[in-house]
Amino acid sequence: TPSDLRDILGFTISLARKAGSLILEGSKAIHAPSAKDVGEKKNSVDLVTEYDVKVEELVKKEIALMYPNFQFIGEESYVAGENELTDDPTFCVDPIDGTTNFVHGFPFVCISIGLIYHRRPALGVIYNPFLDHLYTGIRGQGSHLHTSAGPQKLPLSSPRPLPSLSQALLAVEWGSDRTAPILEAKSGSFLKLAGDPSGSKGPAVHGGRMAHSLRSMGSAALNFAMVAQGGLDMYWEIGCWPWDICAGTVIAQEAGCLVSGDSHCKHDGDVAEAILTGRKYIVIRAIGDTKTESGKDAQKR
Ligand code: IPD
Repeated sequence: TPSDLRDILGFTISLARKAGSLILEGSKAIHAPSAKDVGEKKNSVDLVTEYDVKVEELVKKEIALMYPNFQFIGEESYVAGENELTDDPTFCVDPIDGTTNFVHGFPFVCISIGLIYHRRPALGVIYNPFLDHLYTGIRGQGSHLHTSAGPQKLPLSSPRPLPSLSQALLAVEWGSDRTAPILEAKSGSFLKLAGDPSGSKGPAVHGGRMAHSLRSMGSAALNFAMVAQGGLDMYWEIGCWPWDICAGTVIAQEAGCLVSGDSHCKHDGDVAEAILTGRKYIVIRAIGDTKTESGKDAQKR
C-alpha cells in the first residue's frame, strides 16, 4: 500500500545514508598514501573495489534483517540464472554506482537502491554521500531531492519542454564495453547528437541541429537523477544493468520524464521521439543481440 511504501522509503533512506558513510570511509582508505592498488574485473576499465563488495554486504544484511521475505539483486553478488526476477518484492542495488569516479576521487558517486514490486520499479533512493544529495521516489507519490534545506519536489523548476535538440543538454556514457562494434555505435550516436550539421562530416539527425553539448557524469543513476531534477534534458546510453537504472526509473518517471528501452523506440527514432513528446527523456538500449549473448551479458538491459 502507499503507506507501506512510505515506511519502506524511511528504512531505505537510513540504509542509503549508512552505506554513504561507508563509501566515504572507503574513499579515505583507498586514497591514503599507504593504500594498495584497487582490484579489477572483466577488463581494465570495468573496476570493482573491496568497498563495492563491503557496501553491498552491509545493505544486503540490513535488508534481510528488516524484510526477510524480500528478494535481493545486487551488482556484486549477482549470478546469471540464479537471481531471476519473481513477483516478490525485490530490492535491486548498486552499492557504488560510479566506481571509476570513486577510484579517481571524482565526487559523482552514489548508492542506488530500488525496490521492484510485481516486476515494476516501485521505489527508488539514490544517495551521493560526497555532495550529500539524496534523491527519492515512490511510484504514484512523486520524487524529491533532499538537501540540508529540506525536501524539494522534482523537477526543481517547472519543466521546460524540449522543443528541439538544438536547445538540449544531453548525458551520454562511454560505459565499460569498448569492443569495436559497441564503440562504433556509441561514438556514431555521440557525433549525431553533437556534430555540426553544417560541417562536411555528413548530415546531423533530426532537424539538422546539434545539441548544446554532451555530458558524461560516470554514474547512470546520477544521470537519471539529474534529468529528473531538470539539469539535463536527456540521457542516452547503450548497455546498463538493472541495478544501474531501477531506482532512477521511479525517480525520473515520477518527475514526469519518459524512460524508454528497446521495446519503445528504434535506434534512430530515439531523439526524434524525445523531441516530439517534448518531455525529458531517458533512453537505455541493450547491448547487441541478447539472444546471442550468454551469462551476465544476456541480462544487460
Ligand atoms: C556504471 C556507471 C557508468 C555507466 C555503466 C554502469 P558502475 O556502473 O553507471 O556510468 O556507463 O553503464 O554500469 O560499474 O560504476 O556501478
